[in-house]
Amino acid sequence: MKPLLFSLDCNENLSKEVSNILGLPLSKDNIIRFADGEVFAKSKEDAEGRDCYIIHSLSTPVNDRLMELLIFVDSLRRYGAKKIVVIIPYFGYSRQDRAFKKGDPVSGILIHNLLKAVKIDEICCVDFHSMKLYEQYDLKKTNLTAINLLAKKVKERIKEIHEENNVCVISPDAGGLERAKLFASHFENSTFADVKKTRPSVNQVKLEEMHGDVDGKTCIIVDDLIDTGGTLIEVCEYVKEKGAKNIFIAATHGILSGNAIEKLNKLNINEIFLTNTIESNIIQNLNKCSVVSVASIIAEFLKPRFRKDDNEI
Ligand code: R5P
Repeated sequence: MKPLLFSLDCNENLSKEVSNILGLPLSKDNIIRFADGEVFAKSKEDAEGRDCYIIHSLSTPVNDRLMELLIFVDSLRRYGAKKIVVIIPYFGYSRQDRAFKKGDPVSGILIHNLLKAVKIDEICCVDFHSMKLYEQYDLKKTNLTAINLLAKKVKERIKEIHEENNVCVISPDAGGLERAKLFASHFENSTFADVKKTRPSVNQVKLEEMHGDVDGKTCIIVDDLIDTGGTLIEVCEYVKEKGAKNIFIAATHGILSGNAIEKLNKLNINEIFLTNTIESNIIQNLNKCSVVSVASIIAEFLKPRFRKDDNEI
């Protein structure tokens, strides 16, 4: 039987791109919000005996997105779906990965348990924030990376200004080291710098020190996400002060909460590269921003999952 591919209401354009690459049309859903905020989410097609694929980020408003997904999956199960695979390009709550004090919730684990409770068979995400958390998930899982796509795009731009042999890749914190090293592997002769960052309070950032020399370099700051922008702003100002010649920013998820765009627009940088794991209208207000699509890596993940006798691709 034909598989069903769904986009709920937060990754519409990305899902269309994936659907076009696979030649598999998007199936229709019905999402209703009641006056009191409760959600109704159901497939318009009978999912009985079908393999179902859903593309749905847990992005802002994250709690609504989560309930839409859980309720939609419940509906698919009640139809009698055979298999349910959820692609969660941006996995909200993945920063809440540990308890610091007695009694602290570990919300990243709770989300996993909720996904299991509705009997999702498999999940797939892109640049999951915390590998420590990811490793604790026992659902069948895949973590794709957009870092290679981002690095290729940034490299094109850096070649245009003939700076490809003068690159310093910067990780804004210890957690991002592996990601930044993967990014740096696309630039022969690049150097590397990393920053020690602390958070005096929630959403506040303080740079303690930086290892590596950025003087006269074309710097590329690589992170998995931009939320308030606080981290990048601190790092940009620091490397500028230390003599950076050019500054590029590459990050997978553009959350861009609060007045992040306003603050980022004031930065004296060359360009910001983000992906489309999170779709929002506000991104068009971000100056000097290029968006790289992750549709190709999601389509590559999905292709082998369709059985040969499905005949759709
Ligand atoms: C931290 O571990 C992450 O990789 C990001 O650096 C951070 O969460 C970005 O948040 P903000 O933009 O609010 O500083």
